[in-house]
This record gives sequence, structure tokens and C-alpha cells, in this order.
Amino acid sequence: MSLRINDIAPDFEADTTQGRIRFHEWIGDSWAIMFSHPKDFTPVCTTEFGAVARLSQQWATRGVKVIGLSVDPVEEHRKWAADIESFSGAKVDFPIIADPDLKIAKAYDMLPAEAYKAETPADTATVRAVYVIGPDKKIKLMMIYPMSVGRNFDEILRAVDALQLSEGVPVATPANWRPGEEVIAALSLSDDEARQKFGGFDAKLPYLRLVKLQGS
Ligand code: BEZ
Repeated sequence: MSLRINDIAPDFEADTTQGRIRFHEWIGDSWAIMFSHPKDFTPVCTTEFGAVARLSQQWATRGVKVIGLSVDPVEEHRKWAADIESFSGAKVDFPIIADPDLKIAKAYDMLPAEAYKAETPADTATVRAVYVIGPDKKIKLMMIYPMSVGRNFDEILRAVDALQLSEGVPVATPANWRPGEEVIAALSLSDDEARQKFGGFDAKLPYLRLVKLQGS
């Protein structure tokens, strides 16, 4: 069955470039991002891993652990990491999961349609999937890109900022929101409640009330 937002991310045990892990235990009390990619030693994937490695400090600041995944074995991942480091100038300081029997890819529904009738291992490459998982182990966000389109990790960072901002706070973020900009008071709040909570709002429409959060 396919996964939905707010489902518990399937737990699993797997070998990674940093040793064997049990996924939920590895996440601990952090936020986590798991991103899959079709194959080691391929051009788009190399640029994606480089982009994630360059953002190392940004993930750390937000308390986010990142982990990559592909069907290739750990030894291949380790050799490929050297290429990623030479291309990006950044250290691959996060683990990469080996999923040779596609156990995790299937549990997360990461495979493209044709993979389900695949006859050779070459047909079973994962698509480019991203799962943002909260400390409660629930899936907060999923993105599925085709093999031909590299992901925008600045957008994933922005989405993490929006998710963390709205954790337990009755707000949502508008289109193209950037940290520090106004946010939207939740529809669950009456006007009086919104005034009390945020000290006022700018009503662009009766149902679109912009508020400035303290300290943002
Ligand atoms: C890539 O560029 O990342 C790629 C190319 C062919 C197959 C899989 C991935």
C-alpha cells in the first residue's frame, strides 16, 4: 500500500556506509530526510549528493539527519563518495543505505511503474524520492521526481523550515514563502483568537490573514 503524509515511516534494518542501522533508532529525536536515487556513479545523482553534502551545516542547524539510499552495495557507495567529494568539494558526512533486495524501496513505494514487472535488476532502479520524517517518525512531506530531473535541495530546506515553523503553531506558509516573511493564520482560529494569538493580522481576504511571527 502506498504511503501517505502522517503515516509512520516504515522501520527497517539495513547496511549503510556508516554501519548497520535500525532506521527509527537512527532517527532518534531528530528530524530526518531519506532520499533515494537510481544508481551510483551516474551524473544527476552525483550532483544531487554533492548538493546535499554542501548543505551539511544547514541540516545540522535545523536538527535534521540526512540519509541516502540506492540498490547498489555499500562498497560501491564508498567508492562513489570519493567522486562526489571531488566534484562538490564537500565531504559526504551522512550514511548511504544499500538496498540490494529492494526491501526498503518496496516498503516506501519508491520504484517506477515499470519496475513492478521488471525482469532484470537494471529495471528496478528507484525513482528520486524524498521523505521528510519528524521526530515522531511520521512522514511530513514526500516528493517523487523522475530519473531525468535532479531535485532542488534548497526547496527541501525551505520546506523543512516551513514544517518546523508550523509544528504546534496554528500557521501555514504561503506560496514561495521564505524564512522571516509573513505567514498565514490557521483557518481553525476565529478572528478574535488570531488577534489574541498574534497581536493582530493583515486580512487580505476574510480567509487569508497574514501575521508576522515574533523573532522571525
Ligand atoms: C543519473 O544521471 O543520475 C542517472 C542516469 C542514468 C540512470 C540512472 C541515473
